[in-house]
Amino acid sequence: MTYQEACKKLEEAGQFHVLKHYDSLTEKQKKNLLADIELTDFTVLSYLEKREELMKKGVITPLAAMEISEIEKSRDWFEELGYRAIRQGKVGTVLLAGGMGTRLGSEEPKGMYDIGLTKPVYIFERILSNLLDVRKASAWIHLFIMTSDKNHDATVAFLAAHDYFGYKPGYIHFFRQEMAPASDYSGRVYMEGPDKIANSPNGNGGWYSSMANGKILEIVKNRGIEWLNVFAVDNVLQRMADPCFVGATIARGCSCGAKVVKKNAPDEKVGVMCLEDGRPSIVEYYDLTDELMNAKNEKGEPAYYFGAILNYLFEVRALEETISRKLPLHIVEKKIPYMDDNGNFVKPDKPNGYKYETLVLDMVHMMDSCLPFEVDRHYEFAPIKNMTGIDSVETARVLCQENGIEL
Ligand code: UTP
Repeated sequence: MTYQEACKKLEEAGQFHVLKHYDSLTEKQKKNLLADIELTDFTVLSYLEKREELMKKGVITPLAAMEISEIEKSRDWFEELGYRAIRQGKVGTVLLAGGMGTRLGSEEPKGMYDIGLTKPVYIFERILSNLLDVRKASAWIHLFIMTSDKNHDATVAFLAAHDYFGYKPGYIHFFRQEMAPASDYSGRVYMEGPDKIANSPNGNGGWYSSMANGKILEIVKNRGIEWLNVFAVDNVLQRMADPCFVGATIARGCSCGAKVVKKNAPDEKVGVMCLEDGRPSIVEYYDLTDELMNAKNEKGEPAYYFGAILNYLFEVRALEETISRKLPLHIVEKKIPYMDDNGNFVKPDKPNGYKYETLVLDMVHMMDSCLPFEVDRHYEFAPIKNMTGIDSVETARVLCQENGIEL
């Protein structure tokens, strides 16, 4: 991008201050800044005025899950369907690993975190070792790994250095997600340095459009992949390309499936499956009103009992129809490190602005139908968000050990 083009883009976005230090930069810094401006999507800032409107939810009603007891009755049939789809190469997997992992507090990509006690056991290792279960189908499936500008090189180098933990390299493909700027409360973009916009990955909802931009969808289409199983990096018990889940979603004729667990408390911080204006949806825990939290179904159980664990199966054909539609933007208050007007770097200890993100859970609402598929949280849900406490390295270690995983 040329300087003139950058000026035009920034003027249109009302963010000309980004170039304030341009004249005093070295040639290399000038290049960095122009590249940053080119990569950053400033259009998200225009949504700030509509923040209230964006957060409005439709009418929420319950959506029944397929519970474990029901799954067990049809397990053989579901598995047969699932294995068939896997063997035919119709299932691919997408690992969302572009996040910053700020709560964990490690500078490295989250997948590189070592949860071992007596030997190294990396998060990526756990994920790839679980994915290797697909060998029971005598097949390999494609794994598409989403990184971000902040962690791409480290992720690629780490996995190569560890020989992909036994997975077949030809079946692993990396792609980068896009970046979004962070702003103060008035929508003015923060700078991280004189040649660096304070930007961050644009949320995990951008995976499909980033796959399209990165030419990865061509692989999906050329290989005849019909289903994409999208999952988070931080659940070390995560089961991907689970034949029973794939088979159940196909058998039910749904365009999407979501693995869910029974919540361990009404206020557990997981999004719950529901219908919103009659379409499948997920209400985030912070949007769950007391009324919804305490509502009961006809069996006397909580009506919004099933939390999504960020493991979705999407039909590629249905996704194709969503690409032209914009996902809702989540404007989230965060602590954003920045350079102040005097050129000093500030690390705030309380929120000082907004980040702009789209979320994969909103893609569920774009599908005509979704099967919430219950899994046992003790076997499949060990998320690592924090170092200690709830959803932490500590709790994940206990769950790994209960599942016989040596650490
Ligand atoms: P989280 O919402 O837990 O975010 O991501 P995070 O960035 O990993 O952690 P914090 O909030 O900064 O502590 C859930 C999943 O979505 C991926 C993450 O890598 C994780 O697998 N993700 C998140 C992306 O791929 N891109 C993003 O922009 C955000």
